[in-house]
Amino acid sequence: MNKRVEEVLNEQIIKEASSSHLYLSMASWAENEGYNGTAKFLYKHSDEERFHMLKLVKFINERGGIAKIPAIEKPPISFDSMIKIFSSLLEHEITVTESINNVVDVCLQEKDYTTHNFIQWYVSEQLEEEALARTIMDKLKLIGNDKGGLYLFDRDMENAAITPETVGGEE
Ligand code: FEO
Repeated sequence: MNKRVEEVLNEQIIKEASSSHLYLSMASWAENEGYNGTAKFLYKHSDEERFHMLKLVKFINERGGIAKIPAIEKPPISFDSMIKIFSSLLEHEITVTESINNVVDVCLQEKDYTTHNFIQWYVSEQLEEEALARTIMDKLKLIGNDKGGLYLFDRDMENAAITPETVGGEE
């Protein structure tokens, strides 16, 4: 497989693994704070990111490259508030989108149309994830510090879908 493409895909593995780790830490914080619906959503989100990572590992290896499983930086343990969690989640997803766009760029420069085709799945996934994070942020801004509002928000998050058809599934 093209070396530059292999390199950026391996960098993307780091991004997806870090996302999974970060959301896992957020889930654990939310669970300990009594936000069980949000915790459930974030545990699912963390699984989803692991799936994104796995898909890259398999693709690189199937195409004759070598997937590198990275060491992951320790994520924060404490997150202060729900709004802090989701603003940092949105910020994080925006950097992931930039990184996916960079993979697209490199594929085009190297004329690797197979990987270009493969990475389109991530392009649409990022669109969905950013949109969902923005919707959640809008809700939280409306709620502010209202405890009753936060209680209802958390209850709704239990059923908020983070592309459930791919969580734990095969692609
Ligand atoms: Fe796999 Fe949310 O980026």
